[in-house]
Amino acid sequence: MLSNTLPNEKSTTIYLYFIAAISGISGMLFGYDTGVISGAILFIRSEFNLSPFLTGLVVSAVLIGAVIGALLGGYMAENYGRKKVIIFAAIIFIFGAIFTAITPDIIFLIFGRIIVGIAIGIASFTAPLYISEASPPYIRGALVSFNQLAITIGIVISYLVDYSLAPIQGWRYMFGLAVIPAAILLIGMFFLPESPRWLVHHGDLTDGRKVLQRIRNNSNIEVELSQIQTSLKQEKGGRSELLNPKNKPALLIGIALAIFQQVTGINTVIYYAPIIFQYAGFKSSSAAIIATIGVGLVNVGMTIVSIKLLDRVGRRPLLLVGLAGMSATLILLGIIFFLPSLISLIGPLAAISLMLYVAFFAIGLGPVFWLLISEIYPLKIRGTAMSIVTEVNWGSNLVIALTFLLLIQSIGASGTFWLYGGVGILAFLFTFYYVPETKNQTLEEIEEHWRKGKHPLELGK
Ligand code: BGC
Repeated sequence: MLSNTLPNEKSTTIYLYFIAAISGISGMLFGYDTGVISGAILFIRSEFNLSPFLTGLVVSAVLIGAVIGALLGGYMAENYGRKKVIIFAAIIFIFGAIFTAITPDIIFLIFGRIIVGIAIGIASFTAPLYISEASPPYIRGALVSFNQLAITIGIVISYLVDYSLAPIQGWRYMFGLAVIPAAILLIGMFFLPESPRWLVHHGDLTDGRKVLQRIRNNSNIEVELSQIQTSLKQEKGGRSELLNPKNKPALLIGIALAIFQQVTGINTVIYYAPIIFQYAGFKSSSAAIIATIGVGLVNVGMTIVSIKLLDRVGRRPLLLVGLAGMSATLILLGIIFFLPSLISLIGPLAAISLMLYVAFFAIGLGPVFWLLISEIYPLKIRGTAMSIVTEVNWGSNLVIALTFLLLIQSIGASGTFWLYGGVGILAFLFTFYYVPETKNQTLEEIEEHWRKGKHPLELGK
């Protein structure tokens, strides 16, 4: 009955897509500013003669900032509104881009990258939240995954910029160019409204109604408004509600997937691909960056495939196939680097394996992680739970980035890839035995499932 009165395909105005497109620029900046380091680090490392530890620190500085930003973003978005916080993030993005481009030395560079990271941490959390709160339910899933697509596109753009500027070793321009999308984000955000949900939450029903009128085509705004109010009443619980035993499975799933998404090593490829390619025998920096662009394009393409399949075949099959493929290709990478007889083939073989590995990530764990954490939490703890899980994700990302080169030095490339492959197998088993299928389930059905204290796999059965 409700579905007749709720917004449907014909009820969305073009303005909503504008909201998603503009705020999606922050996803692109997330991708750009994390990906750009893969090319820039080659030149920074030689210009400043960096040790493996300092190299790791330059790469990781952005992640240290992101951990801080994810924490701040949660607090600020709750108190000052989603729109203002994204505007704030855009200003930090601009400041960080300029700062890193003109930095006099390595300490300032690390500091500047932390600033950029704070913007990423804030935006990674508030932009999907903002889009989701403006979206009607029938399109929310697509728009959540659209954010992952924006991240992958940002990564490819960073690789292309790295490649174009490699001949002049222009790492300062690589960082500085982020100012362009950041400025577009800043200007664009001024034309967007505050989240209707946040407005209603803070007692501003009049403005909340006005915003809904602009982003919906039909006259059922009152139904939606009252639903927002009803669900807000259920959202009263604080962090202590997270410890309610009935909510523990959902929390465990989010935290485990956040760790698995990072500890299976995706960002060693995203951040260090040119170094891996050089290690595998690609002689010039440009050749290594070209191979890396291929990896980025596979990431974009397979994310699109995943978005098309998610609502048809479901989240679980994609996650399981993705994890199986990631584990297999990681084990293969370990073998390639282990056998001296493969030395003449190592470059092409490593390139093919890395691309397959990224393809399996992009079809499963990449988008499905962010999608699932936006679906599995009861309304009243969704914001807090997502914020905690996002922090765990950035924290795990940081640990992997800090340890990757040290791991390569101590247990070798083969050992490192096998280690990540082992975690991939664990993630597969965890998913197989514990991660529910949320396809075709309303958020209320999922919430009710936890309330009944049932096993996650019984969802929808
Ligand atoms: C992850 C990022 C990763 C990106 C790669 C995202 O889902 O959270 O850490 O860099 O995917 O596409």
